Parts: sequence; C-alpha cells; structure tokens
Amino acid sequence: MSAIRLKDGIWSVGVLNPSLRVFDIVMESKYGTSYNAYLVTGEKNVLIETVHADYFEEYLDNIRQVLPLEQVDYLIMNHNEPDHSGSVAKLLELAPNLTIFCTAAGKKHLEDITNRAFPVQVVKAGDKLDLGGGRALEFIPAPMLHWADSMFTWDAADKVAFTCDFLGCHFCEPTMLDRNIHDKSAYEGERAYYYQGIFGPFKSFVLAGLDKLPAEAEMVCPSHGPVLTETLAECRALYRSWSTPAPREKKLAAVIYASAYGCTAALAQAAAGALEADGYEVRCLDVVKEGLAACAQAANEAGVLLVGAPTINRDAPKAVWDVLASIDAVNTKGHSAGAFGAYGWSGEAPGMLHTRLSQLKLATPEQPFRVLFTPTGDDQAAMAQYARTVAALSK
Ligand code: FEO
Repeated sequence: MSAIRLKDGIWSVGVLNPSLRVFDIVMESKYGTSYNAYLVTGEKNVLIETVHADYFEEYLDNIRQVLPLEQVDYLIMNHNEPDHSGSVAKLLELAPNLTIFCTAAGKKHLEDITNRAFPVQVVKAGDKLDLGGGRALEFIPAPMLHWADSMFTWDAADKVAFTCDFLGCHFCEPTMLDRNIHDKSAYEGERAYYYQGIFGPFKSFVLAGLDKLPAEAEMVCPSHGPVLTETLAECRALYRSWSTPAPREKKLAAVIYASAYGCTAALAQAAAGALEADGYEVRCLDVVKEGLAACAQAANEAGVLLVGAPTINRDAPKAVWDVLASIDAVNTKGHSAGAFGAYGWSGEAPGMLHTRLSQLKLATPEQPFRVLFTPTGDDQAAMAQYARTVAALSK
C-alpha cells in the first residue's frame, strides 16, 4: 500500500496484511487486517504509531513517499502492543533523536519492548504538542482501551481523532476510507467481532472512552481497518449500545449443561426450578441443542452460573469446556458458579469444571455436586440446595 492523503497534512502510512487469517493467536481475521499508522505534517512533522515489525520496510517506504525520515520530529504512540510498537526499535536505529510521546504506562512498555533508551515525553490529559501553523495535537488518556497505556490523540483544527485500536476492525480496505468499503455486511460483521474480542471485556472503559472522544470529531483514524467518516456516528452508537448493560427486572441465573442420557439434565432442571422459585430469571440451556454462542452469552451475563456435565473418558465433553473457555474473567467479577453432573464410573468432570470456575475467580462453594447414575428425589432436592448455595455467593 502507498501513502494515502486523508486530509491536508494528514497521511495514512500504514500497511495492509490481507492474507492474515489469525490475529494475535486468538482472533480469526477472515478479511486480513491492516496495521495503520499516520503522518501529520506541518512546521513539525509527527508520526502516529508504527507497524508490526514484519512490515517495517513498507512503512518506511510510505513515510518516504511524503517526506524524508530525517524531517520527522516526533512519534506518538497511543498504544504499545507490538502490532503497533514492533517497528519502534528499527525506527529509532534510523532516527535516534525522534522524541516519543506516550503515557507513563506506555513508556514502561516501550522500554521493555525496545530494550533501549530513547527520547521520551510522558503526557497527561490535556497536554498538547504544538506543530506550528495552527495545528496542535492534544492527548487524551483512555486507559484500558484495551491496555493501561491507551490514549487518543486529538487534532482539534481538523476534527480528527487518532484512537489506536478503539473503533477499529480487522479488515483491509485499500483506500483506507470507510465510504469505499464495497462489502459492507462483511465489514459490519468483523467490526462487531472485533469489538467483542478486544473491547467486550472492558465495557465500562469503552463508555468512558466514548465520553472522552470529542463529539465534534469528523474523522477517526484507528490502528486497524478503515478510517471512519461516514460510519463514525454509527460506530460510536454501536460501541455505546454493546457496552451498556441491558436493564433487567429479575436477577439472571444460567444453568448450562450437557447430558447423554438425561441424568445430568434432571439435575439441571432441579437447579433451574429452585432458582426460579427464588425469583431468578433462569436460562436453562442444553449446550448441544442451544449451541455455544447462546450458552457463552448466558454464562457471561448471569450473576449465578451452574455448569453441568457427565464424565466421558475421565473428562467433561468438549462442548462444555468450550463454554468455560468463553467466559470473560474480567466482566464476571462478583459472579458465583458451581459445577455438577451425573456419572457412571469415575465422575471426574464436575471436579474439573469446579477447578476451572475457581481459576476464573468466580465465587464457588467448596465442592462440586455429583450423583451416581439416575438422580433420586433426594438427589434432586440436594441439587436444588446446591444451586441455592451457589446463588448465595453471588455479589
Ligand atoms: Fe492492535 Fe492492542 O493492538
């Protein structure tokens, strides 16, 4: 990709990676991604972000299409995860006097990532970098979007905000402009997936970040995916909607289970009945029938979670583990959980699930609950009591 002029004196100098299919080990990237970086020119010239280390040469070429590297005065690092900071060390080898502007947390990260000293200016909320010619960049720390180091950079004269990962998307648009996206539904799907994967665990910080982002912004330059102009208002509204908890009349409980022959299902029904009788809205879901997405959503939203599984070959079934692997350990703070299951031989599954729920820092009772083969009436009553014990641990 070449350098692209976005506005007078504002250039995109990042790179596309259209063939990437897995981002950062954990995220599918069906349409690749881009490592965005920007160059703001004037009496002083400033780079905003670098790119993944593998793409340094293309990034350098793009900068040099606009001006010689020797004329760049500053580098702003809004966020320092290595997909953005990976080229900082290489850049400093060519431009050792470049002053880097970042938050205090960002400075610490960069020192450990580059393993070298560099000229640095730590910024706070409201600090400005005057570029001359009527253009000044203001720094707006926005922690936990999605690292502690995160900040926005605001160009009030041009009404442009540089937000790093915030409002981005793993998507390749060669022109870098949202108005040119031809497959809008693909983009919209990836935008939602990106939000869920990167910002879903930080909803309260997203709401704070939206409030900090100047309302008059007309262009947002993120660090992945297209620059937002026409879709900016929509994207802001979606982030607010996705981050705002749904109002709920009753407290929510989830009973999620797999059951081969109905024994664990009978325990699930006993737990669900007890919680409903106690005034909870209960989502009682068979993971094989309802699917991972519905179960993962319920597991994350419910303040009280019961997870049940039979034991197959000394383990819980994969479908149940997939639900536990989908629990967001950040936003479930204060939730409680318990594990249960009917078994025929050795019955390891409830104990294994119990250990995982405890590791996620959910409040759990001391033991899981398990029953050998078909639950009796007494077993179902004990299961109901176990569910109540779990519910009492929820904050
Ligand atoms: Fe795109 Fe948090 O790095």
